[in-house]
Amino acid sequence: MQITINNNKYEANVGDRLLDIARSNHEHIGYFCGGNGICQTCYVKVLEGSEVLSSLTEEEKSILSVNLINEGTRMACLATVEKEGTIRFVSAVEEIKEMFKTNPVALGGYAAKMGFEALVKFPDTMQLQAKREWDLWLLLSDVVNGIGDALQMICRAFQSSCCCKSADCECNTKKG
Ligand code: FES
Repeated sequence: MQITINNNKYEANVGDRLLDIARSNHEHIGYFCGGNGICQTCYVKVLEGSEVLSSLTEEEKSILSVNLINEGTRMACLATVEKEGTIRFVSAVEEIKEMFKTNPVALGGYAAKMGFEALVKFPDTMQLQAKREWDLWLLLSDVVNGIGDALQMICRAFQSSCCCKSADCECNTKKG
């Protein structure tokens, strides 16, 4: 089945997690916590195909405000493809990148809105995280991997020439 992420088309399968599809295709998406539902940087806006995705998890309901849910926001690390269909979404970090390029003045309003939505859900989010049980080593490893990958993503997204200079660096072979 076809999935469109940030205007780029890829193949996906039932059972795939949105975050994994984006990461395996080197798409621009946030995942600083490595997909553990903590950092909240993996927000995506589903523009088409919300009905073929898994239902909102309790974790998402604890973190996402009603406004964000009504706008089609999902957490890519907590949403999976549940049935065949067409899916199209844009990541929050891609939206910010585009805003930065085309209308940087709007960034202030966007940050204020997202801050407000996070504040509204802050008590629920804290309650959720306090209840969770962590495998600290796994979490640490995911976070380190997430930061490493994020640095490469930033390299691809914001630099016209690669910072790595190596011929086989994926920054030289993948789009930003
Ligand atoms: S919350 Fe960190 S990757 Fe989803």
